[in-house]
Amino acid sequence: MSAKILDGKKISTEIREELRGRIRKLEQKGVTPGLAGILVGEDPASASYIKLKQRASNELGIRSEMVRLPQSIKQTELLKKIELLNSDAKIHGIFVQLPLPEHLEQNKVLSAVSSDKDVDGFHPLNVGKAWMGQQAFLPATPSGIYEMLIRSGYSDLKGKSVVIVNVDNLIGKPLASILAQQEVGANVTLCLPSTPSLSACTRWADILVVSVNKPKFITPEMVRAGVIAIDFGSNYIPDPSSKTGKRLVGDIDFDTVKEKAEAITPVPGGVGPMTVTMLLANTVTAAERQTSG
Ligand code: GUN
Repeated sequence: MSAKILDGKKISTEIREELRGRIRKLEQKGVTPGLAGILVGEDPASASYIKLKQRASNELGIRSEMVRLPQSIKQTELLKKIELLNSDAKIHGIFVQLPLPEHLEQNKVLSAVSSDKDVDGFHPLNVGKAWMGQQAFLPATPSGIYEMLIRSGYSDLKGKSVVIVNVDNLIGKPLASILAQQEVGANVTLCLPSTPSLSACTRWADILVVSVNKPKFITPEMVRAGVIAIDFGSNYIPDPSSKTGKRLVGDIDFDTVKEKAEAITPVPGGVGPMTVTMLLANTVTAAERQTSG
């Protein structure tokens, strides 16, 4: 039996429609949500991400301000720019596009963003609150994955085994912080691609989340029948039949695993579209919190 395809574009469109309603309510109070993004340097992938975030903001009615700073900027200058945005009442959400050039201390920079405007959920205060189950901004990719599960009919994760093959601060750890909360009740395991006997671990998963950037890394032998397979890999592989000579694929061998899974996210069109949407959702939430009362 072929798996149900979890359509991130469709779910994303649904969420954006809901956000339009919330933005209209803010507009009635004279508030336009404002999002500022900072890009340091000229990394082409980062530049295209922030363009995507800007376009999506504008389409929805979020005022966006993208600040481009030179690769050679001194940390003190960058921190000053963040401070200006922190005190700008028209800006409700701020993100600093990662990765940063090596001479900048990522932890210091991320900690400089006001935790009330930290729509990426990377400030230590938000990270700590998320683990403690307190109200916090959650990073876009893990909250996008959680939202996709809920809206696809998998809202009851009590006792389910969730295996996440990724341990970084952007995906694996914050996703664990969401799913390990008592009220969610999942049994969460974090693994690395190099974890010994990884297959034993991945086969245990009712829900398998993978982000390792290795094409076709997860094969059918590595999953149990009926798994819900979530792929946040992004790999270009050669494809002579495509105009560009290459094709985007995830980390899960989609064509074979979908025959064994209950549900699976495609790449592209799965988790990817959810990430920008969740950043926009956090921005609207930030605007609501900063203007309530
Ligand atoms: N670089 C890769 N993913 C992200 C993200 O979610 N937020 C930011 N700010 N930078 C990133």
